[in-house]
Amino acid sequence: MTSADHDLNQDIAKVLIDEKKLQDRIQELGQIVKEEYKHEDDLLLICVLKGAFMFLADMTRALDRPHELDFMGVSSYGASTESSGAVRIVLDLKQDIAGRNVLIVEDIIDSGRTLDYLRRILLARSPSSLRILTLLDKPERREVDVPVDYTGFHIPNEFVVGYGLDFAEIYRNLPYIAVLKPEIFAHL
Ligand code: IMP
Ligand code: MG
Repeated sequence: MTSADHDLNQDIAKVLIDEKKLQDRIQELGQIVKEEYKHEDDLLLICVLKGAFMFLADMTRALDRPHELDFMGVSSYGASTESSGAVRIVLDLKQDIAGRNVLIVEDIIDSGRTLDYLRRILLARSPSSLRILTLLDKPERREVDVPVDYTGFHIPNEFVVGYGLDFAEIYRNLPYIAVLKPEIFAHL
């Protein structure tokens, strides 16, 4: 447990993607998604909680067209940096997605297990279309092949925090994507 006056910035080894780069890319993604769905009146963004909450908040503002939002809670990691492989739905959608144009908004694809599982579950509900938008992708780590339609950034095989992403539930509030100092992992 960190103390209330602990400065999270001092735990950072390096910033991989700063605020400006994130925001510029999200503006581009907004344009890309708008263009791709320009012939569709219906669009539903599904935010994968918790990690994608910050990305979704900026993405929805960068997407200059009518769209709906919904949330799905998925749990894959404990307080570790490796996937357990087991994916659990902890919060389901409020609505039926049959016949809808669904765009999954995810924070990061690592092994691909979370999205593969989510994709199967959502496809079984017969959406009209189902695409995937991820802010980050670590292609080197892929174990399951998942069709990703839009990617913000490809990043190296390093555990990252910030901008919604956590380590042991902390660091989500940092406005940038960063790598932690190695000693932080040793505290676990
Ligand atoms: P996957 O199932 O291995 O693809 O893992 C996807 C999920 O694990 C993401 O939605 C994240 O919540 C989490 N995750 C994967 N890599 C990282 C990371 O580098 N930092 C923080 N969380 C991560
Ligand atoms: Mg996580």
